[in-house]
Amino acid sequence: MEGICIRGTGSYLPPKLATNEDFMKIVDTSDEWIVSRTGIKQRHIACEPVWQMGVKAAKAALEDARIPASELDLVLSTSVTSDFSTPGASCMIAQHIEAVNAVCIDINAACTGFVYALDMARMYLTSGEYRNVLIVSPEKLSRITDYTDRSTCVLFGDGAGAAVISASEEKKRFASYLRTDATGTKVLFARHVDKGNPFQEKQKANEFDGFEEHDNEYLYMNGKEVYKFATRVLPLAVEEACKKCGVAVEELKYIIPHQANIRIVKTACERLGVPMDKMYLNVERFGNTSSASIPICVDEVNRRGLLQRGDLVAVVGFGAGLTYGAAVFEW
Ligand code: UT7
Repeated sequence: MEGICIRGTGSYLPPKLATNEDFMKIVDTSDEWIVSRTGIKQRHIACEPVWQMGVKAAKAALEDARIPASELDLVLSTSVTSDFSTPGASCMIAQHIEAVNAVCIDINAACTGFVYALDMARMYLTSGEYRNVLIVSPEKLSRITDYTDRSTCVLFGDGAGAAVISASEEKKRFASYLRTDATGTKVLFARHVDKGNPFQEKQKANEFDGFEEHDNEYLYMNGKEVYKFATRVLPLAVEEACKKCGVAVEELKYIIPHQANIRIVKTACERLGVPMDKMYLNVERFGNTSSASIPICVDEVNRRGLLQRGDLVAVVGFGAGLTYGAAVFEW
């Protein structure tokens, strides 16, 4: 076993669309504001559970990889909007694709989930223990979005991406750089609200450490703080992953960033000194789909035939936690 390869990719976008014009009917906003501040024009909204979207993306990835689900050793789900607290989305998806020999693990690394999962897949595969890993990233952000809050509701969309990562006899380059700045947990979160029980006195406000100000389960984001964080760590993570891989940023065919905001990507380009056309973007069509955003892009790049064997690609994510990281891999 010499390395790892992305053997197949898949994605699924639910059919229902919500355009900027649709949002103008529910909150005080405009197409001009949304496009100029974020680059988003529309997003998909799911009327189905997260695991079902995951199954569709996973089946597409398995078909592209040309392996049966029974050959999967590990299923990693990165969803932060799972249908159940337990069982994990990975178990639900494994059941429905019949991944009968797979161990199932859910990872919660927010929008960086796919990048974290890629690195976990690499570790399991290079240990020689496993041969095929499915990473599946289905997200239903509409579940935790407050549609009365114009500063967040226009940003998010639903969808799923997946990839089959396999052990390879070929020596392919791969390196990753992962970090978490856990001092930033309050900048971006969606909390559970205790339902109470007969044995417990009411929890004291200070035991929530400030999070109690948001006494609902909707996503809270301090947009400005996340923006500053993202523009700092996106170029940093790409540079560090390239350094670990022994390649120059200029050698990358594509950089696939987490699709949150086109302005973050433009600023990162300036800091990295690379042209915008090196960045693969689809935020205009899908909005921010959290951990699904990167694998949906990887699947588009693959299906559009934009990569040749040997091309180098970087994926880079940032999100709640605050997690961030990048991975560089050879196609
Ligand atoms: O995956 C998680 C990662 N998340 C992100 O990457 C998000 C990072 N943050 C951002 O992308 C930006 O901070 C936002 C796009 C969320 C906001 O852009 P901004 O330039 O930071 O806007 P702002 O929050 O400073 O708001 C500017 C103005 C405010 O009005 P006033 O106070 O200046 O009168 C807002 O109330 O824009 C107003 N505003 C809106 N106006 C029309 C906020 N949301 C909207 C809206 N439509 N949807």
